[in-house]
Amino acid sequence: MSHLISKVFTPSTLDLSKTHDESRQGAAFQPEENLSGTTPTRSAYIETYGCQMNFSDTEIIASMLKDMGFGFTKDETTADLVLLNTCSIRENAESKIWNRLKHLKARKAQNPAMLVGIMGCMAERLKSKLIEQEQLVDIVVGPDAYRDLPRLIEEAGDGQKAVNVLLSREETYSDIAPIRLNTNGVTAFISIMRGCDNMCSFCVVPFTRGRERSRDFNSIVQEAQSLFEQGYREVTLLGQNVDSYHFEDCSFAGLLEKVANINPLLRVRFSTSHPKDITDEVLETMARYHNICKFIHLPAQSGNSRILELMNRGYSREWYLEKVNRIRHYMPDCAISTDIITGFCSETEEEHQDTLSLINEVQYDAAFSFFYSERPGTLAARKYPDDVPEEIKKRRLAEVIELMNVLSRQSNLREVGKTFEVLIEGNSKKSDQDWCGRNSQNKMVVFPKGDAALKPGDFVQVTISSATTATLLGQIEK
Ligand code: 5AD
Ligand code: SF4
Repeated sequence: MSHLISKVFTPSTLDLSKTHDESRQGAAFQPEENLSGTTPTRSAYIETYGCQMNFSDTEIIASMLKDMGFGFTKDETTADLVLLNTCSIRENAESKIWNRLKHLKARKAQNPAMLVGIMGCMAERLKSKLIEQEQLVDIVVGPDAYRDLPRLIEEAGDGQKAVNVLLSREETYSDIAPIRLNTNGVTAFISIMRGCDNMCSFCVVPFTRGRERSRDFNSIVQEAQSLFEQGYREVTLLGQNVDSYHFEDCSFAGLLEKVANINPLLRVRFSTSHPKDITDEVLETMARYHNICKFIHLPAQSGNSRILELMNRGYSREWYLEKVNRIRHYMPDCAISTDIITGFCSETEEEHQDTLSLINEVQYDAAFSFFYSERPGTLAARKYPDDVPEEIKKRRLAEVIELMNVLSRQSNLREVGKTFEVLIEGNSKKSDQDWCGRNSQNKMVVFPKGDAALKPGDFVQVTISSATTATLLGQIEK
């Protein structure tokens, strides 16, 4: 997908289908009101890059800053503290952040009292290099060290180097109530686990986010319950690999059931599933609950078994296709999306064709595709030469995107004439005469408002009359 730069983070414009996407870059959240209740003595400006997990972390960090007496500003030039929550998943994700840091360094030269902090995956990957060699920032905080922010901010204020990139085996921030940022008041993310133990050979995440750990289900259910009571009608359970969630004797299927049981009017989504870990028990639970959305983001990465082996994905093409069959067996109406990497180490033209044929065979509803970007320290970087030339990687990527555009359009056109339950999220981007919201399959639906009594958070039945590649258009069923 294209690398957009969005200025302001509005959850309603985010695609909920995936946990990793550095394309939604540079989203600055700045609540209008003073969140601290009392008059804040200092102001913070936060910018978030990367995946939904990072956006969710920013909500936790904002909560901590509020407790420290920070207010929030939309204007970086007036901030006492500028924080970037960063992503390392691909090289271009990092290069955008380097540029931002250079810009901030110039600003700091004019305003030396301003503190600049880098958080998240890039902080973890580059550690004190960011302070020592580059002297671009005052504070470096890894994803498991946010509780240390008060000390680090104080130290940096005293002119000391403030770095904490310790990873933890336990930290889940489960006791911290996130501040919902730029919220539409209808949909929210809940982080259910942190880290990743999978070791896909291309991926930097196990190094930046550490070992996998699951959050206590009691705190997850409480958070979802409290969101429901505040009027939210959809929660997305987030983790790098939600299907390996386990806390005491509660599996991911058990957790889904607990959250779904809070209220039939609370929709439940989740992201991301690893094909090797999603169980029949999860599929059966999804099928049983109307309010668990019929949508699975099931990254394939490649359609060729040799490449999948090199990627250390733990499944073959055939095994993946069998998993797709299981999903369709339990839920014939379930939408499936995927992530694809083109031009992984040693990928031949024939093997790339296997990816295209897999996409055709599964008939995905949506896909996020990327060309391979070698990440230092990963298994692939250590073991396999990055030997597919960039123009070939990009040409293969263009072929994947072209095919997916055709399939997404076809998938949307198949919905014309059908009626869906849609959760209203707010005004459509183009007109305040239209609502927009998603159906269970995560497709965006736009329709005229009609009945004046309707409001965001309501469920309506919408019959689809036409479709584009990205959106379904319809009318409320009378
Ligand atoms: N290069 C390109 N894409 C990558 N992804 C993860 N690591 C890399 C990399 N080194 C993609 C995968 C993953 C998604 C979040 O990002 O497709 O599922
Ligand atoms: Fe999210 Fe970090 Fe992965 Fe980027 S590298 S997508 S921020 S977990």
